[in-house]
Amino acid sequence: MIQVHKKTQAIGVFDSGIGGLTVANAIIKHLPNEEIIYFGDTAHLPYGDKSADAIRYYSLKIVKFLLEKQCKMIVIACNSAASAAYKVLLDFFQDQTIFVNVVDPLVEAVVQANHKKVGIIATKATTHSGVYPYKLLEAQASLEVQSLATPLLVPMIEEGYFNDNISHAIIEKYLSNPILANIDALILACTHYPLIRKNIETFFKKNVKIYDSNEVTARKVREKLTESNLLNDQGKSNHQFFISDYTKSFEETTRIFYKEKINLEYCPIW
Ligand code: DGL
Repeated sequence: MIQVHKKTQAIGVFDSGIGGLTVANAIIKHLPNEEIIYFGDTAHLPYGDKSADAIRYYSLKIVKFLLEKQCKMIVIACNSAASAAYKVLLDFFQDQTIFVNVVDPLVEAVVQANHKKVGIIATKATTHSGVYPYKLLEAQASLEVQSLATPLLVPMIEEGYFNDNISHAIIEKYLSNPILANIDALILACTHYPLIRKNIETFFKKNVKIYDSNEVTARKVREKLTESNLLNDQGKSNHQFFISDYTKSFEETTRIFYKEKINLEYCPIW
């Protein structure tokens, strides 16, 4: 049984760092009356290279922090965390809040479109978890699914390399991998990747349908809040953005992901 009942309570959103700001941004645009409490675990990023056990441990602690802030819903805005920790978070906390992860809305959207061959690009943690192929095939057994770990993309994006020679070369190297030949859809299974969506569309000359988490997750948040009668349609937003380690570089990179300046608060939960 869900313990929170007030529409005015915030939505918690967390990620390994600042990539999840792409999802937070989409939620804020879609639901402007909601208040967001964002937590970026910059002390431990990247999650993509960590073990599933480590990611589960970090995620449990972050969710406890967001529950102390009375979040009525928690969005796992990181594919690596959603892949490794979603089940354990449900086991521990599903009676205290509503969870939305970035994986399920993407899987639903892809399956609805009835594709033939789908590629997935993601961090090593998400790829090795096998969560996407498992869920996609469970919903559409006829689908051919190929996963490719693309670990250079996160640091590349965080360093601001997109739409230039460096990003073109790296993206081309990954996407020319023969396992992705003849795909008709590609899932960007990392919350950093919406920033290189245009590069990827250009690579495929728009012949491949590209899916990212932003819109589908924001829509899922609305759907779940509406069905629980917790949608805040009159509130004034006063978002808070916490990070577990602070550097000037995080502050600067934030703009790439969020599009406008935000105030990052250092919050050492470790
Ligand atoms: N944004 C994270 C994801 O969606 C990846 C970043 C990281 O490796 O920490 O998986």
